[in-house]
Amino acid sequence: MKTTSDFLTMKANGEKIVMITAYDCPSAKYAEEAGVDMILVGDSLGMVVLGYDSTVQVTVDDMIHHAKAVRRGAKDTFMVVDMPFGSYHGDPNEALKTAVRMIQESGADALKVEGAGEVLYVIKKLVYAGIPVVAHLGLTPQSVGVLGGYKVQGKTAEQAQELIEDALRCQEAGAMAVVLECIPHQLTEIVSKKLVIPTIGIGAGPEADGQVLVFHDLLRYGKHRIPKFAKEFANAGEQIQKGIEGYAKAVKEGSFPAPEHCFNMKEEELFSIYG
Ligand code: KIV
Ligand code: NA
Repeated sequence: MKTTSDFLTMKANGEKIVMITAYDCPSAKYAEEAGVDMILVGDSLGMVVLGYDSTVQVTVDDMIHHAKAVRRGAKDTFMVVDMPFGSYHGDPNEALKTAVRMIQESGADALKVEGAGEVLYVIKKLVYAGIPVVAHLGLTPQSVGVLGGYKVQGKTAEQAQELIEDALRCQEAGAMAVVLECIPHQLTEIVSKKLVIPTIGIGAGPEADGQVLVFHDLLRYGKHRIPKFAKEFANAGEQIQKGIEGYAKAVKEGSFPAPEHCFNMKEEELFSIYG
């Protein structure tokens, strides 16, 4: 398994870091088999798996439940788990307690938190306790209410400057990497050049040191809204839909199950039933 220092080396060598989300055992297995560098158990699970319309309904128990399944599917891949909405914004000691529980119960290698400001204390506290932390700046979905929707962030010089400073503060607080979501690619380039720790972009252009996408978005699995930046690398949804329709049709017309799907009883056993 790669470690936090491997990710620093990858950045220094210009080797891109590949991250994908996963929420259960099979998706984690596929990701590990494909050789991705990191798996994120994102709180996006609220939207793509649990059917909520934002991430704010997701609980610590939800995250642990799914992260445990991902861990079982990908034992040898660095696993980052999102701390969900509201779980790290109150008393920093509570945040640490929750973080320790998430690490111990799920087997996470690192936790991710959104934002800077007061959250910088949380990053410091967790890192001080020995927990690797990934920061997340730009579009931070847990603050969608405050941001006023899912919009591109850091478009003005002032906002961009603030994001650059926040990224530097996250690094100083001890973050091992920074996710940059939905920001202009020029800003990604500036931040990536200023930081020693890797940037991992999503809707942030090719200049990031790595990329992350939501499993269900890049594979078109699900009926949720898919963001503009998520390229379709496969269409699993179409395959699944066709498969289920084919199954339903075959049952209705009686073509399934066919002889090759059936179990047989020996003739003599049958005779003894009928006499
Ligand atoms: O929850 C998630 O999937 C994320 C990524 C989009 C970075 O935080
Ligand atoms: Na998230």
